[in-house]
Amino acid sequence: MKKKIYIKTYGCQMNVYDTERMVDVMAPEGYEPSDTPEGADLVVLNTCHIREKAAEKVYSDIGRIRRIKDEKKKNGEDMVLAVGGCVAQAEGAEIMKRAPVVDMVFGPQTYHNLPKMVKQSISLKQRGEKSRILDTDLAVDEKFDQLSKKDVKKKPTAFLTIQEGCDKFCTYCVVPYTRGSEFSRTIEDVMKDARKLADAGVVEVTLLGQNVNAYHGVSGSGDEWGLPELITELAKIDGFERIRYTTSHPHDMTDELLRVHGDVKECMPYLHLPVQAGSDKILKAMNRSHDSASYKRTIAKLREIRPDLALSGDFIVGFPGETEEDFEQTMQLVREVTYAQAYSFKFSPRPGTPAALMDDQVDEDVKSTRLTKLQALLKEQQTAFNNSVVGRVLPVLVESTGKTKGAAFGRSPYMQAVQISLGNKSYDDLYGKIVDVLIEEGGPFNIQGVLA
Ligand code: SAH
Ligand code: SF4
Ligand code: F3S
Repeated sequence: MKKKIYIKTYGCQMNVYDTERMVDVMAPEGYEPSDTPEGADLVVLNTCHIREKAAEKVYSDIGRIRRIKDEKKKNGEDMVLAVGGCVAQAEGAEIMKRAPVVDMVFGPQTYHNLPKMVKQSISLKQRGEKSRILDTDLAVDEKFDQLSKKDVKKKPTAFLTIQEGCDKFCTYCVVPYTRGSEFSRTIEDVMKDARKLADAGVVEVTLLGQNVNAYHGVSGSGDEWGLPELITELAKIDGFERIRYTTSHPHDMTDELLRVHGDVKECMPYLHLPVQAGSDKILKAMNRSHDSASYKRTIAKLREIRPDLALSGDFIVGFPGETEEDFEQTMQLVREVTYAQAYSFKFSPRPGTPAALMDDQVDEDVKSTRLTKLQALLKEQQTAFNNSVVGRVLPVLVESTGKTKGAAFGRSPYMQAVQISLGNKSYDDLYGKIVDVLIEEGGPFNIQGVLA
């Protein structure tokens, strides 16, 4: 009989990608994906440790799953409850202690072992043993050896992880500890997965990595490619019409990579390049290895190459020692640089990171006030950017059905979410295609248009 696996994904796109690989690796074991934890034989929480709130959510979800598990037990059934991802890596032993209902805890670099771990867990339970499984090994290469894309379902967009881990050690960040040190997949592996995606009808591929622009892949024959070479080669694959990559670090934004945005038409005019703060004092304390001037220079160069570039970023407010004046420098940088879209957060002290122990922690209410101000400015800029395309015809990749009947959802080259009125055209005919859309309405979030 088929079994069911339910995976809840928290956090970044890397986790979304990993979740898909876990589903792949469990399929040959007879596990079918399920949309709810009720009735599932295996529940995996694929967790995120980046900010306090994200990590705390896991424990409340464990409580919710426990009740479902208890119900199942009343009917003489059982489920395996597993916690994977970055919280598992960071606090595996604590989860085991705090949540006895959890059967298995495993870190992001162990997913290829999932079938083995699940079998082991089931047999431990059947033998009535109390011991549980904890695997937080960080050897990333083995994971990728055994976890390449399986049968890819037909869909127009896909992620492709090309790099994992981080050696940058920004003083606020847990990623170097949860994902381990920087690792790039080989050229052959990446190209093999990319061809599978193209064969499955993928039109837009997003290359993923915690520091994707630090990619340095090697091949069996001794070639070495950075991200510019990789994008250039991927663009030659039939079917790929759009290439994106995320997340980049300003430090690794080389001139060659900037030029790719001008030379390779498949490379989209959109870039997520987090700056985090506008004050050089704070950037230094964050160990960001760039300052506000070098960041602005990079953006200026890129806009010379791609004047229509849509820029996205990440910001942290209330980093230890951030004064009103430092914060004002962040606001000033945003006013100068202008963003099409951005993410912003209150600094969250994370266990084990240097910034958590720094003096001059900023009060929560000050952080909140600053975040509100920054978000208002960013929203204004996002709306202005969206409004600036009203009246233009943009190529939009149709990804799913829209909010209303007779509408479809897609993305513009600038990553804008577009609701498309289909008129008398059928959604099925347009799904997965890039269509010309006349943008009629802007606004802060979804923009609206009609088939041109
Ligand atoms: N590798 C990427 C993304 C890392 S995590 C990069 O270097 O930019 C995504 C974002 O979460 C970061 O860019 C940062 O803005 C935010 N973040 C990370 N740690 C945080 C913390 N302790 N508190 C608040 N925000 C944090
Ligand atoms: Fe975290 Fe900094 Fe690495 Fe990004 S570059 S993952 S923010 S340590
Ligand atoms: Fe979160 Fe881990 Fe991604 S901490 S942001 S899931 S790398």
